[in-house]
Amino acid sequence: MTDQSIYAYISGKKPIIEKALDHLLTPPPGNRAERVYQSMRYTVLNGGKRLRAILVMATAEALKHRATSVVKAACATEFVHACSLILDDLPSMDNATMRRGRPANHLEFGEATAVLAADALLMESLNLVSDNCTEVALPADLTARAVRALADAVGPEGMIGGQHVDLEIAGRSADFETLEYVCSHKTGALFTLCVQLGALLSRAREFEIQALENYAKNLGLAFQIRDDILDEVGDPDSLGKNVHQDAGRTTFATQFGIDAARKAVHDLCNVAVDSLQALPVKSAPLVALARYVSETEE
Ligand code: IPE
Ligand code: IPE
Ligand code: MG
Ligand code: MG
Ligand code: MG
Repeated sequence: MTDQSIYAYISGKKPIIEKALDHLLTPPPGNRAERVYQSMRYTVLNGGKRLRAILVMATAEALKHRATSVVKAACATEFVHACSLILDDLPSMDNATMRRGRPANHLEFGEATAVLAADALLMESLNLVSDNCTEVALPADLTARAVRALADAVGPEGMIGGQHVDLEIAGRSADFETLEYVCSHKTGALFTLCVQLGALLSRAREFEIQALENYAKNLGLAFQIRDDILDEVGDPDSLGKNVHQDAGRTTFATQFGIDAARKAVHDLCNVAVDSLQALPVKSAPLVALARYVSETEE
């Protein structure tokens, strides 16, 4: 798959995801939480590369299932992601003012509504995974595994653990292992969840799940290091968020320098691609997504 065709692949999937997200965030008639819905919609429906949702769909396709059979799970990962962005931008976290080209959620809706919207997105993501499992008549043990995978990816052994250590090391030097922990937990855990959901819903075999997890683990780590590079060299208008946000923080790029960070991204993406060799049929979109993370800084 060429550079050109991965862009075509992404733009083919995006409208399906956007339409589903809009539908899933339509408030039920008579609800009393209108502003919470507005706040949820504000962050979820406001752009974003949709990389996580695309990863769920590309995983299903790699296993010869239809991308449309995993749309709700794909949207669940975008809900979790949006939740993490709302919380990450709060004054008590990164104190960021811009997200996806607009004021951060808490600046538009106030902190109380922003926190409620983030919590609501998280709860709804569990509903979406559960509903998707029902839709494809997944056996109970696989359904339990899928729901648990989401809880684990977010919990203290996942994203929350990574976010906590990220804040804890601010302004201090950190060793390679600690930074790897931060990146692979605050960001990598959600990437791993994406392939787990795509794989479980497609009734993948254990060796396939293992190969996909190895892919996602390396890709997610690379993606966060790339994001740390972009914080130093990126353009805030095209990124739609504040840059130089990590001044005074400790990231891969601040600790080891931009060149070493770029090399790490490149090497990790190669490992990600190599992990796919274990699949019976190598997936061109999954390979191309890793190349996209490795070769573009945007
Ligand atoms: C930003 O993720 C937060 C990180 C985990 C680095 P993305 O760069 O995927 O953000 P969107 O979804 O495109 O806005
Ligand atoms: C965020 O890392 C990881 C999340 C769980 C949101 P960053 O703090 O670097 O993400 P940005 O740069 O604000 O998007
Ligand atoms: Mg942060
Ligand atoms: Mg941040
Ligand atoms: Mg960042």
